[in-house]
Amino acid sequence: MLFNSLLLSSLLLFPAWVAAIPRQYDVSNGTQSCEDLLPDASAFPDTTSSGKFMFFIRVQVIEGKQAELEDVISNIDNFVKSGAEPDTLTHRSVRELGQDGNPTGFYTVIEEFTDKEAFITHLLSPAGCRLLREGPSLIASQNLTLVDEF
Ligand SMILES: *[C@@H]1O[C@H](CO)[C@@H](O)[C@H](O)[C@H]1NC(C)=O
Ligand SMILES: *[C@@H]1O[C@H](CO)[C@@H](O)[C@H](O)[C@H]1NC(C)=O
Repeated sequence: MLFNSLLLSSLLLFPAWVAAIPRQYDVSNGTQSCEDLLPDASAFPDTTSSGKFMFFIRVQVIEGKQAELEDVISNIDNFVKSGAEPDTLTHRSVRELGQDGNPTGFYTVIEEFTDKEAFITHLLSPAGCRLLREGPSLIASQNLTLVDEF
């Protein structure tokens, strides 16, 4: 009987206990977390020889969505430049140009993190979440290459 009532009260308390755990990532701005949109990073190694995590991410924009995609990516650049993410060491974005000097619709983003965890934290930041949410309507295809400085 005592056991049952302990069990019951711990079950009743459980949701409050979960809610009391501080959120690991800042997903402020009143929006919900975007953890459900996180890409699966388990295929990447847990460490690299440099210890850092650096990516070349090549993106092809959906025709007509250039300005929107550039806005979402610039927002991330600015977020990182603000110093909000000390574990994001590099975040640079470029648009590719053809030999005629005109944009081709392809972009490359160079991202460098202190470690794999920092990459995940970056994606869950308010600016990263916005990319995870809006990306599917702006991006036709993307390829992510893990690189390692030597
Ligand atoms: C919150 O997010 C919305 C939608 O992304 C954006 O328009 C708004 O500027 C953000 N507000 C703040 C205070 O960051
Ligand atoms: C990604 O790779 C696939 C297969 O090689 C290719 O068809 C696609 O154009 C690439 N996309 C970008 C943005 O590089």
